[in-house]
Amino acid sequence: MTLMNNIRERAKSNLKCIVLPEGVEDRTLKAADFILKEKIARIILIGNKAEIDKKALDFGLQFIEQATIIDPVQNPGKERYADLLFEIRKSKGMNYEEALRLVEDPLYLATLLIKSGEADGEVAGAMNATGNVLRPAFQIIKTLPGISVVSGAFFMIFKDNPYVPGNILVFADCAVHPDPTAAELAEIAVSTALTARAIAGIEPRVAMLSFSTKGSAKHALCDKVIEATRIAREKAPWLSIDGELQADAAIVESVGIHKAPGSNIAGKANILVFPSLETGNIAYKLVQRLAGAEAIGPVLQGMAAPINDLSRGCSVSDIVNLIAITATQASGMN
Ligand code: ACO
Repeated sequence: MTLMNNIRERAKSNLKCIVLPEGVEDRTLKAADFILKEKIARIILIGNKAEIDKKALDFGLQFIEQATIIDPVQNPGKERYADLLFEIRKSKGMNYEEALRLVEDPLYLATLLIKSGEADGEVAGAMNATGNVLRPAFQIIKTLPGISVVSGAFFMIFKDNPYVPGNILVFADCAVHPDPTAAELAEIAVSTALTARAIAGIEPRVAMLSFSTKGSAKHALCDKVIEATRIAREKAPWLSIDGELQADAAIVESVGIHKAPGSNIAGKANILVFPSLETGNIAYKLVQRLAGAEAIGPVLQGMAAPINDLSRGCSVSDIVNLIAITATQASGMN
């Protein structure tokens, strides 16, 4: 069974409620219809009911009527959500009028539905930029205990690649945190290992990547990765992790033995943690395009509830997949 089929089956076995704040968007509606038809998750659509009903009719969607629809403007619960938002953000200078205004924003309302326990996760981004999806999530949902940064992992699926025995490598951070400190990089490593295990059942072997292997180069950037490896080991003694390693030393056995003799990760890594968002984002796109790997993600990790961001160029099937992943993440959290 492919990874995505496996994820869909797991989502079906423990039905979670996913809120889609872009409920009037065409691809989102089609994906929601498929999810409801296949019973992969329960769905809340945020948007104008008349508009959603008309589109459902136009597109011939037969299962949308099973979704809960919440109109952000004509919302009887508006004051309740504004109270909640004001309580969470008043220490950051938000006033009540601002809270009342923001609960009409579907992206804010979606996170408040999660916070109040009415939804288990969120998928958005077909119409909104990453920053606009993430900001309310950071402000309202916040991070898991012991984690201070949210990051984004990609499951890179290969076909018969000699350097990828299990056909899957997990890359992070490829999506969120531009310039992590050593402590934040350590958190990203631990979060990615947990994501790999929860989503794909991978037993993590984490390589902390650099342009140096075990002191071959001396630079403050290498020192950061060495320090991050030390902190990650301290934070998660159960974790198989090593660094600093160059990419070839991490995944090519003959190079690993030569450059990092004695390492239990060199040549065997299945999780690659990049030293910065620049390197992670560039690497996953190059591997996707030049090596023909399928890139599933970004799966956002470290947040106290699963919220995932789509690319604006996404297809209906991308949205279906991300809803299934989000539901699976939610299952792992409670
Ligand atoms: N994890 C957790 N919380 C965070 C993070 C993070 N990585 N970054 C910011 N926050 C929190 C802050 O602590 C702050 O919380 P507070 O208001 O309660 O104090 C809040 O979020 C806002 O912080 P700002 O520093 O103002 O963050 P800003 O909104 O300016 O930026 C953002 C956050 C938008 C995610 C920024 O880091 C960003 O643009 N990242 C790059 C995203 C991107 O473009 N990725 C590439 C494309 S994705 C792809 O190709 C797959």
